[in-house]
Amino acid sequence: MKTFSFCAALALALMPVASHAEADLSTYRAFGEKPGLVSLMDAFMVNLLADGRTRPFFEHADQTRIKAQLVDQICAVLDGPCTYQGAPMGPLHAGLGIQQGHFNALVEDLQQAMDAQGVPFRAQNKLLARLAPLHRDIVTR
Ligand code: HEM
Repeated sequence: MKTFSFCAALALALMPVASHAEADLSTYRAFGEKPGLVSLMDAFMVNLLADGRTRPFFEHADQTRIKAQLVDQICAVLDGPCTYQGAPMGPLHAGLGIQQGHFNALVEDLQQAMDAQGVPFRAQNKLLARLAPLHRDIVTR
């Protein structure tokens, strides 16, 4: 009896951990996992550089580093098997003078890249909804 209740208590204690470990990877998979995110970020950067509203921010920046950090960040945001190890969003963007219009332009450029890559609409919306709260750390003017 004692053994049983110990096991039952242990099982109950571990349950939330077990269910958390089984993250829902469906959105991450809809993006084509890591290779899909790598090619999405390539297309996204092409769009950012072609867009007069965003080009001034990115043309002299380390584009290779930004793309690699974005891959990890988006992978993590989508509950994929990655850890974002880049700089925190607030201090990183603080001195850049980013306005609402710049943020909107970047979101449009990302949407275009996702459309071009055939990311399902539902998955696109999920990513955008998860990135939206970062807005308050990024738009400073
Ligand atoms: C949800 C929106 C955004 C996300 C998730 C995001 C994410 C990132 C990431 C992960 C990096 C690289 C971090 C690192 O190097 O450690 C970065 C850098 C950068 N981002 Fe953003 N960003 C966003 C919005 C914007 C916007 C709207 C602009 C300007 C239009 C912008 C301009 C830049 C620039 C110029 C850098 C390079 C900064 C530097 O190297 O000093 N970002 N961003």
